[in-house]
Amino acid sequence: MSALPTDSLCEPTNPAEPTEPSKPIKDDMSQHSADPAPAATTSALATVARHRDWWRDAVIYQVYPRSFADSDGDGMGDLEGVRSRLPYLRDLGVDAVWLSPFYASPQADAGYDVADYRAVDPMFGSLLDADALIRDAHELGIRVIVDLVPNHSSDQHEWFKRALREGPGSPLRDRYHFRPGKGENGELPPNDWESIFGGPAWTRVTERDGTPGDWYLHLFAPEQPDFNWDHPAVGDEFRSILRFWLDMGVDGFRVDVAHGLVKAPGLPDLGDHEQLKLLGNDVVPFFDQDGVHEIYRQWRTVLDEYAKREAPEGPSSEARWWETGGRIFVAEAWTPTVERSANYVRPDELHQAFNFEYLTTHWHAAELRAVVDRTLEAMRPVGAPATWVLSNHDVTRHTTRFGNPAGLGTQIRLAGDRELGLRRARAATLLMLALPGSAYIYQGEELGLPEVVDLPDEVRQDPAYFRGAGQDGFRDGCRVPIPWTRTGPSYGFGDGGSWLPQPREWGELSVEAQTGVTGSTLELYRSALAVRHEHPDLGAGDSVTWLEAPEGVLAFRRGEFVCTANTNGTAVRIPGYGRVLVSSTEVVVTDGEFELPADTTVWWAG
Ligand code: NOJ
Repeated sequence: MSALPTDSLCEPTNPAEPTEPSKPIKDDMSQHSADPAPAATTSALATVARHRDWWRDAVIYQVYPRSFADSDGDGMGDLEGVRSRLPYLRDLGVDAVWLSPFYASPQADAGYDVADYRAVDPMFGSLLDADALIRDAHELGIRVIVDLVPNHSSDQHEWFKRALREGPGSPLRDRYHFRPGKGENGELPPNDWESIFGGPAWTRVTERDGTPGDWYLHLFAPEQPDFNWDHPAVGDEFRSILRFWLDMGVDGFRVDVAHGLVKAPGLPDLGDHEQLKLLGNDVVPFFDQDGVHEIYRQWRTVLDEYAKREAPEGPSSEARWWETGGRIFVAEAWTPTVERSANYVRPDELHQAFNFEYLTTHWHAAELRAVVDRTLEAMRPVGAPATWVLSNHDVTRHTTRFGNPAGLGTQIRLAGDRELGLRRARAATLLMLALPGSAYIYQGEELGLPEVVDLPDEVRQDPAYFRGAGQDGFRDGCRVPIPWTRTGPSYGFGDGGSWLPQPREWGELSVEAQTGVTGSTLELYRSALAVRHEHPDLGAGDSVTWLEAPEGVLAFRRGEFVCTANTNGTAVRIPGYGRVLVSSTEVVVTDGEFELPADTTVWWAG
């Protein structure tokens, strides 16, 4: 548990003006330059800087700060650790980073329980560190997206603490969902909703005089009370929080539980329906309510004020290139259909929505083609880019998912066939990066890291695990700190161990072990991202032209490029499409017919 600030109720504060110069970025991967200055002329910057709608085809790398790099040896990653590894991200070739929450939090849900939206938790550093990180990322040509958690706060947020302290009738209780219980003595929850983490979505409070009182709603853990978005103070507060981070220089926000803010009037029961079956298949009274869209329209006007800034003139203009592009919102919205996801990215709302339908699709050509088509069709009328994602901090890493039989879902605790999983994961990544739109990469996938499926129960921290695991569960296995070096304490993550134990094999999967090694997963990602940068057309547009292909094979053209992906477990003969640009396994091209190996994707320049 970290110390929490006790000051500031809801008054907007100004972003800290840094009072000390940033320390230089350390860069111990010898192959990469440590000096941020020359990066201002790297190809990444050159491409992105001139590209106002940078987000339409951006490759965005998710940093999970606890598990990325630990600068102070306390076993927990931190912002200074992230900053020290920015040159790695520049060399990887990503356009932006999305940082999972680093705000003041008791960490009941790894930071998705925010106690102060304008403070950095001491375990991650300070506002000065956040400022230095944002500035240095910009110097290196990388944009910065931060996580915004508007559906719920921590129970240690000042509003909630005071709401409890002040007792029934406190106006602060109206900013959350407090309700009397049902039953003779109010001993039953106000409705039948269940927490996503398992158990009832309601907790009864004990008033200061020791008597049982009202219940409050928490769609996640009891330490995460849901805000009441019908209360104007909640909206005011979040628009102010947006401005705070925009003034700090961030380029966008990933909106947590974007589909959950508005609840159906009267908080109606689900009745006879099994909640787990409804989720993701139906509109439920607490998710994907139409009222959320008004909130995003208001947010959009705030963001657009910042996006409209003109490019500064004169010699400093290149150094301030990031001010010229739009700022963005990306929605974490689990909706029943991609068409409903498209509602979140209408021109006056958010910019992108994660494509969870793609994430949950098996390595199967026909299913993949169907979801690609559905996505592009759904996004076209609203003019938003499609997004593609295979892994994040909530699901089993795709290397492990693809090594297991299809149909096991996204929470898998079986190692499966490791070799097959990695082979398919590499092919799936190349396929994803050839599609039009924006792609998300989760830290460590570029190393081909598998899920850690054998964590002992006593080290687990995922609240879903402790609450009997509802639909989410066992998410610790994709959150194990990533390896940087072959040997050493925590494989270069930090000097003081790591908050979750790393497997012995981590050393051989480390950045050090893979850098410069032809055929390594890291070099595959680097090559693919370099090609995307050299040919900005690759991510552009909103359509693919499908080419005829044997069963189990996807072939499509994107301008001068062709992508072929074989999802079969055996090689397939196809025509060659010119010069091989990148391939997920080694391929030999001869004239005429070409043998596309099993579970392999190849990019061609026609
Ligand atoms: C989605 C986040 O990705 C997840 O990690 C978190 O537990 C829930 N939202 C609740 O904030």
